[in-house]
Amino acid sequence: MSTYLITGGTVVDPSTDPDGGGRRADVLIENGEVLAIDTSIAKDDVEAIDATGLVVAPGLVDLHTHVREPGREDEETILTASAAAAAGGYTAICTMPNTDPVADSAAIVEKVWALGREAGLVEVLPAGALSKDLAGEKMADIGEMAMSAARVRLFTDDGRGVQDALFARRAMEYLRGFGAVYAEHCEIEALARGGHMHEGARSLALGLRGIPAAAEELMAARDIALARLTGCRLHLLHISTAGTVELVRRAKAEGLPVTAEATPHHFTLTDAALEDYDPMAKVNPPLREESDRAAVVAGLADGTIDAIATDHAPHSREEKDQELSYAPPGLVGLETALALTISELVEPGHLSLTQALERLSTAPARVLGLEDHGRIQPGRPANIVVFDPGAAWTIDATRFNSMSRNTPFEGRTVTGRVAHTFFNGRHTVVDGVVRVGAAV
Ligand code: DOR
Repeated sequence: MSTYLITGGTVVDPSTDPDGGGRRADVLIENGEVLAIDTSIAKDDVEAIDATGLVVAPGLVDLHTHVREPGREDEETILTASAAAAAGGYTAICTMPNTDPVADSAAIVEKVWALGREAGLVEVLPAGALSKDLAGEKMADIGEMAMSAARVRLFTDDGRGVQDALFARRAMEYLRGFGAVYAEHCEIEALARGGHMHEGARSLALGLRGIPAAAEELMAARDIALARLTGCRLHLLHISTAGTVELVRRAKAEGLPVTAEATPHHFTLTDAALEDYDPMAKVNPPLREESDRAAVVAGLADGTIDAIATDHAPHSREEKDQELSYAPPGLVGLETALALTISELVEPGHLSLTQALERLSTAPARVLGLEDHGRIQPGRPANIVVFDPGAAWTIDATRFNSMSRNTPFEGRTVTGRVAHTFFNGRHTVVDGVVRVGAAV
């Protein structure tokens, strides 16, 4: 394994200096680990990476990635999702269980985990389903998944919310024993069914059935009450409304074990993106109103929302290129998240770069209990992203490593570009290009 010396960059590590702006330092990587971080390191026989003008940060961690393997390998595989993640600066992804078959047993999560290891580009951490087949009725093989080689630590029926409050309670009671996280896709189906966008003035004007904010907020409130009752750790996935942000704020003030994430599309776009009935902007939960978007930004700024997660959801061209009401919800996000975060949150001054990296890396690593991500520390595996925070580029989906191209951000000019990614000390992205096969 090569020895690397990253020279001249600004090291920003939110785990050790959450309020700082980073410091100029060289980083030496040997045998897969960070060996030293110092103002000036001199060493022969190294591969030198000139990071002058660049930021050196902990590799990003995505709490919410839909890989389509097993089942829809025409849309994304674990290898292509891993490549997209590495290109986006990620070193770990938590994969959602709504595959076909559903990841509701040890056999499936071990398969996903093993394929991730084979791809060797990022750490692939499968989330397990809470219920068999995501049906919300019988509990999935939670214990077996937690004890399997994949060591599942986050369980969710994402893609669907758990509709039955008693099931949610029992699942939380059970998960608590494992110290695992109950993660909810907050959506009361009786209120959301048949909706294609956020319910409000725009859905009315467009003549489309809407999904009210209450469909999310009611389930978030229920789950917070159940976290209080059971003591289970609760993570709210892709929160999108001002009301949910406020519920999380109050739960945290009360000291409940509640965390939350928001996506780049929810802090960047509103339901105005659907004005021309663009299926690319159809996503679940839907893009909301400006007041919701602003509340998500404020929640990320004050730490109410712990993490930025992509909800990377690949869909085929045939399926997405349909009339809005037929197109499936979802968009790909791994290759645009860092740049959207810098462009929408850091450049306008809502978050410092260090805070943004905390939400993209250190905080999600903490939610998953990952000690080898979210920090740059001597003696730990080198999971690092090197990026140019000032480089402007135009999003061009044909250049994605993902197999799918469904993005509402096509043609948008953004700032912040990944130059290098190191995963466990392996140089997986070199000058912006993914090295598939870097594992060997
Ligand atoms: O937009 C979405 N797409 N939201 C979800 O919850 C599921 C996801 C998917 O799997 O396509």
